[in-house]
Amino acid sequence: MLEELQELRKQLDAELQAITSLRELEDFRLRHLVRRGTLAQVRERFRQLPAEQKPVVGRELHALEEAIRQRYNEIRQRLETQAEEQLTVDLSLPGRRFFLGGRHPIEQVLADIVSIFTRMGFCVAEGPDIEDDEHNFTALNFPPEHPARDMQDTFFVTPDRQILLRTHTSPVQIRLMRTLPPPIRAIVPGRVYRNEEINPRSLAEFHQVEGLVVDRTTSFAELKGTLVAFVQQMYGPQTAYRFRPSFFPFTEPSAEMDIRCVLCRGEGCRVCKGSGWLEICGCGMVHPAVLRNGGLDPETYLGFAFGMGIERIAMLRLALDDIRLLYLNDLRILQQFR
Ligand code: DAH
Repeated sequence: MLEELQELRKQLDAELQAITSLRELEDFRLRHLVRRGTLAQVRERFRQLPAEQKPVVGRELHALEEAIRQRYNEIRQRLETQAEEQLTVDLSLPGRRFFLGGRHPIEQVLADIVSIFTRMGFCVAEGPDIEDDEHNFTALNFPPEHPARDMQDTFFVTPDRQILLRTHTSPVQIRLMRTLPPPIRAIVPGRVYRNEEINPRSLAEFHQVEGLVVDRTTSFAELKGTLVAFVQQMYGPQTAYRFRPSFFPFTEPSAEMDIRCVLCRGEGCRVCKGSGWLEICGCGMVHPAVLRNGGLDPETYLGFAFGMGIERIAMLRLALDDIRLLYLNDLRILQQFR
């Protein structure tokens, strides 16, 4: 058996000598070093030798195993280091591309709106997303049976329906009137919530910007002038617009503002539903009851207000026909912005 061991040692040495890759080394390990490999088989036969042969053969076998494992480890280390070096010094590889993050379209549109209104003397205010019925509805002159209070529209936080997720940014009007002495000139960006089916035109969570002006003298003319100035900066000086009479519980009179469809320029398309016009905001003179609920005397003060959806504006800029595209976080969409 001694001779056989010497033969085996020569053979394994030769094999190791010839190895040039980690792949070949692994083949070697699988042939000889694993539980049923060559070395294990030799050791099995060794166990069956007569006792008097064991000391001499055992020493030889042990030396063989040690030597092979040691060489195996050396070769493995050498090959691994080589592989790593090859990886790190391949100067012919193209550089790795990295992406700079960008601001989300909603943030960009909001930044534009804020910049236009702050240049007109407005400040920026905020209010809480979780509101009470008082601020969201009652103080805004919503009659108790008004449909906007229905379960369908509002996410209630408490079973008595007194605490809710605000359905619009208008409740901040009340908070401003109750805390700031007039004159007030503020815009209020924020997130709003409606218990609505999610579809191409509506989300259950979206954004609005509210505007509120309260002073001793102001007028519907000033409201129109303010919104026209906004539209001309946001959509271009030539943008055609119109005001339509409308209804909101918290304004009287109330109106909605439309601009010429930016996609079809008035011809009629899918986005403007063939009308050639796009509604961009609701507005009106603050209702005397709302001024009173805000702690202000309607004989002394007048106000106007407006509210617009930010997603709408972002969709128009990108000519998106599905509001959900804004929240896919698909870079192909986000990168088109700006
Ligand atoms: N709060 C209204 C809504 O969510 C939008 C609105 C309309 C706000 C008229 C106003 C306003 O301030 O005067 O639909």
